[in-house]
Amino acid sequence: MSVDNIDQVTVLGAGNMGHGITEVVAMAGYDVVMRDIEQEIVEDGYEDIEWSLEKLAEKDRLEEEPEGILERIETAVDLESAVADADLVIEAAPENLEIKRDIYGDLEEFTSDHAILASNTSSLPITDIAEATDRPEQVVGMHFFNPPVKMDLVEVIYGEETTDETAETTYEFVESIGKTPIYVRKDVRGFVVNTVLGPFGDEAAWMVSEGEAGIREVDATMVHERGYPMGPFELADLTGIDVGYHVRKEAGQPIPPITEEKVEDDELGQKTGKGYYDYEDGDGADYG
Ligand code: 3HC
Repeated sequence: MSVDNIDQVTVLGAGNMGHGITEVVAMAGYDVVMRDIEQEIVEDGYEDIEWSLEKLAEKDRLEEEPEGILERIETAVDLESAVADADLVIEAAPENLEIKRDIYGDLEEFTSDHAILASNTSSLPITDIAEATDRPEQVVGMHFFNPPVKMDLVEVIYGEETTDETAETTYEFVESIGKTPIYVRKDVRGFVVNTVLGPFGDEAAWMVSEGEAGIREVDATMVHERGYPMGPFELADLTGIDVGYHVRKEAGQPIPPITEEKVEDDELGQKTGKGYYDYEDGDGADYG
């Protein structure tokens, strides 16, 4: 299938990544269905898109009115009807192999034969996800970064069975939504970005867990010395501390105690109002 045959896209997941991907795809002119397992989650995701589009409109960053973009977005809870007409499904479900494999088993049944099934997984092997379907050649990684509306790069990842046709169509689709794709041809856990970025966050969390440095000091160092847009703790608060936590759990890696504590206390970052920094009562990630 070529990119010209992609008209209808379905995004599975309305959380941080799911709603951000939906927004980006709709901004590029595609019709999108955003589906999650509960109506309330879908509504929250839709409100986040409305907020984001308003922000972009205020700054003159949209080529049309937010209403026009929102008209291309439908929301859904029922999986079967949400994917029935999709040419491309982008799955942004929780980072758990069992959950993802269940979804791909259903997709095999509910999607049309030509549909590309793309996973936004952060680090699970595409090959392991694809084994849950009878068409692993049409399963591919399409890994966006948070927040999708602002981050340019998308990794297009080959599983062992992914065909060139599937990967090339996915690559061209990423270009068609105004992003910069790169191919990841080896299905290594974490792909390129998270393989490199993971230790950056982990080293920081171990240093703080062991009392060798403070959160603000580590973040300030990376921003002022390295020129990064944000330090590792502010970044974890943005992406969700639970996201990195589950990636490490799935990979059987040791978890730094400070990360463990945050997850136990449900202090997961910006989305819960508190993480390594306090976004409700404190100054947020203010490290000068
Ligand atoms: N939509 C619209 N506006 C948004 C927004 C969104 N989703 N998110 C933030 N904004 C707004 C803010 O409200 C703020 O608005 P204001 O100016 O009115 O207060 C403004 O954007 C922030 O603008 P800034 O000038 O402060 O920041 P920039 O736009 O220059 O940069 C950033 C923001 C792109 C997030 C930058 O800080 C950055 O690149 N950070 C690093 C992000 C990163 O590395 N992400 C990847 C994480 S890893 C990952 O996602 C992998 C996954 O597998 C876990």
